[in-house]
This record gives sequence, structure tokens and C-alpha cells, in this order.
Amino acid sequence: MPDFDTSEKLPEKVEVLRQAVEAKITQLTEANRAHRRKIFDLYTIFEISRHLNGMLETESLLDSILLTAIGQIGVSGAAIAIEKNREEGRLTFVKAKGILSSRWEGISCDKGGVLCQFLLRRNQAILLKELEEKIGGQTGEVEKLKTVEAELVIPLSVKNRLEGILVLAGKISGLPFAENDTEFLSILANQLAVTVENARLYEMEKNSNLQLRETQNQLIRLEKLAALGELSATIAHEVNNPLGIIKNYLALISQELTPEDPNYPFYQVIKEEVDRIAKIVRQLLDFYRPKAEEIASVDLSRILDETVVLLEKQLASSNIEVVKNLPRHLPKIEASPAQLKQVFLNLLMNAREVMPEGGRLEVTTRSENGYVEAEVADSGEGIPPENLEKIFEPFFTTKREKGGTGLGLSVCLGIVSKTGGTIRARNRTPKGAAFIVRVPVKEKV
Ligand SMILES: Nc1ncnc2c1ncn2[C@@H]1O[C@H](COP(=O)(O)OP(=O)(O)O)[C@@H](O)[C@H]1O
Ligand SMILES: [Mg+2]
Repeated sequence: MPDFDTSEKLPEKVEVLRQAVEAKITQLTEANRAHRRKIFDLYTIFEISRHLNGMLETESLLDSILLTAIGQIGVSGAAIAIEKNREEGRLTFVKAKGILSSRWEGISCDKGGVLCQFLLRRNQAILLKELEEKIGGQTGEVEKLKTVEAELVIPLSVKNRLEGILVLAGKISGLPFAENDTEFLSILANQLAVTVENARLYEMEKNSNLQLRETQNQLIRLEKLAALGELSATIAHEVNNPLGIIKNYLALISQELTPEDPNYPFYQVIKEEVDRIAKIVRQLLDFYRPKAEEIASVDLSRILDETVVLLEKQLASSNIEVVKNLPRHLPKIEASPAQLKQVFLNLLMNAREVMPEGGRLEVTTRSENGYVEAEVADSGEGIPPENLEKIFEPFFTTKREKGGTGLGLSVCLGIVSKTGGTIRARNRTPKGAAFIVRVPVKEKV
């Protein structure tokens, strides 16, 4: 039998074993705690996503994202960059919360640039310091993030597209970001990217719905206009002949009358009213009679400029400052130059009429994917919101006492529609109205 005297070593062995078991328990407890934390994080992310998924308005969604990041990670501030317009190709900082530099607003970076491309590949939260080491030398865009006082940069990407960038300032506790934090944020970021995309799709749909409604409204107005056109042509012709006769006899009477005659005031009233009828009839005829106008390839800037020149004297005498922003070399459009002048003349006259005490008139042209636009903007009283829908209707006028016929804008609408374009009005801040004529550019074939 071998010597089995281990009595002295036994307590030592037990001690070693006890320590090993203890270490294991500590390790397992640690792992357990980490798992619990992870489960908690995932649960939080799940709850946050569920909450955010229901939010469709980008504004409130971005607010919630920033507040969530600040609250969950305990940072002193956060800012978010998204693509303001689809296909813009830039991510712009649109919102920030908490203590951040006030210079974040409008800072943007190119989606095709080094920074965005790097973030897209990385697809994980990264410390600004590390970002600087990695690509600081290749692009100035990292410097921009510094002005935002960012410490942690989190890409929001979905389907291999960068939807946005979330940046966080340092932690309120002063501690560095832990691995837990970046892991949590990276998972959250993927969820956020989806909600940001959803909100954007929703807004796009809302916008196209609005556009559709606007087009429908314009169609309805046009239909009314067409009906009016036919009717008014008949009436105008019917009225025009007797009116001619009345005018002739009035002229005869005026030869007999002196201002001292007791009937002279009556004659004057009749003459004024007849002139008024004649004016309406003329406008009605202009309105319907499709002028045998040559369609030409026209430069909208030139037409608008020429029309302003026509009115320059009158504008100057009314103390109206004219600001022209009429770039040449805009794409040409196919339209009748004389009729376009008529449109601008009506808009300019209306502008002049709302600035009797003087003001500022801005005429602008611009080109925008497939369209050219002309804008006539004044600094008058603007249009009461309840009238915005009505002003293009024939005979709608708020200037009845001053001899308004309410036909000017419906004539504009008729002409612009013939070119396949649109005309709309909006109020300006702080005051004034703007009319925007938009005409499609025809591709040369
Ligand atoms: N620049 C403007 N600012 C404010 N209101 C305007 C402007 N242009 C037109 N409007 C409103 O639209 C109405 C219709 O204009 P319009 O069709 O030209 O007829 P009229 O000038 O004869 O009243 C005007 O009576 C006025 O209420
Ligand atoms: Mg008018």
C-alpha cells in the first residue's frame, strides 16, 4: 500500500479549491450582471423603437431621439444631422439639445465625402478622437464636428445607406464612454435609422398628397374659368354693341352740356359707370379671345425684365424700390411672349396697388429641375389666409370700390395653365405676398 499520509496537505488543497470556486463565482456573477445589463439595454431599445416607430412627424421624432440619447447615456448634449431634402446628398445638422456649442446649426457634410463614407463602413459608434486619428488628415469635415463639441459620433444607417449622424457631447459624470454605452448606442442607432427613414417616407408621401390636392384645386378653378370664358364671350359681345351706342350718344350729350348745367353731375356719373362697364367688357373679351399669338422660345428673365421696365416710372412715383434678381441663361420655355407679359403686368399692377405708401418689390427668376420659375414679391399687407384659395377665381376682388374687376389673376391662371405651368400665391414673413409662376422646360427633340 502506498503511503497515504496526506493529512497535512489536505487543508491547503481545500483552500486552493475554495479560492478557485470563489473566483469562478465572481466571474459568473460578473457575466450574469453583464447579461442582465444587456437584456435591460435590449429591452430599453425595444421600448424606445416601439415608441419612436409610432412617430411620423420628423420634428417630434428628432426631439425624442435626442432626449432619449441624453437621458439613457447621461450626456450633456446631443445633435443630429439628417438629409433635409431627399437626393440632396448632404447630411445637415438640423436639431440639437442640451449643452452644446451654439454653432451646430447648418453644419453639413457630403454623403459621398470621406467622413460619411467612413461612418457608413464603420456602422458603429466611434469616439471623435479616434475618428480624428483615422481620417482627420483626409477631410476637414471632422473639424466641423469639433465645432459642435461632439465627443462620440454615431452613424445612423439603414440598408447600407447613411440616414443620419447622431453626435453626443461628453458625459455629465465626466467619466469616459464605456464599451456598454457604445454598444447600446450602436444597436439603438440601427433602430433609429429605420424610424428616421420611415418618417421621411411619410413626409414625402404627405408632400406629394399636398401637391396632388393643389393640382386638383387648380383643375377645378380652370374648369370654372373655361365655363366663364364661353359665357363671358357671349355676354361681352352682347353688351359691347349697345355699349358702343350709349357711348356715342354720351359723347353727343357732352357737347351740349357745360359744367354749370344742373344735369352735368348726372352726366358725369353715367360716364364713369359706362367706362367701368367698358373696362370689364374689355377684360372679359381679352380673357376669352385666344389671341393669335406666336408661340416662341422665350427667356423668362427677359420678359419679366421688360415688363418691369414698362412700369418703372409708375413704380418709382409710388416710392417702390425694385430689386431685380433675373439671371440670364435660364433654360428657355415655349410660350407666347405677349401673354406672359400680360401675366407679369397683372402681377406687378397688383403689387403696386398693395403698396400705396411705397415699399419693396422683388422680381426673381430661377430654374429648378425641369422648370423655370418667376416670382413677384411685394411688401404689402399680404393675403388673408381665407382668401388664398379664392383670389384666382374670376371676379373675386377686395378692391370693388376702387374699380377692381377681380379678373387679373384668373387671366394669369388661364395663360400660365396653357403653357402647362402653375401659378400660386403665398404670404411672406414679416409681411407681403409673393406670386410664383412655374413653367416646365420642354426638352428639345
Ligand atoms: N400682391 C397682392 N397682395 C395682396 N393681395 C393681392 C395681391 N394680388 C392680388 N391680391 C388679392 O387678389 C384679389 C384678386 O386680384 P385680381 O384678380 O388681380 O383682381 P383685382 O386686382 O381687380 O382685384 C385682389 O382683389 C386682392 O384681394
Ligand atoms: Mg388686379
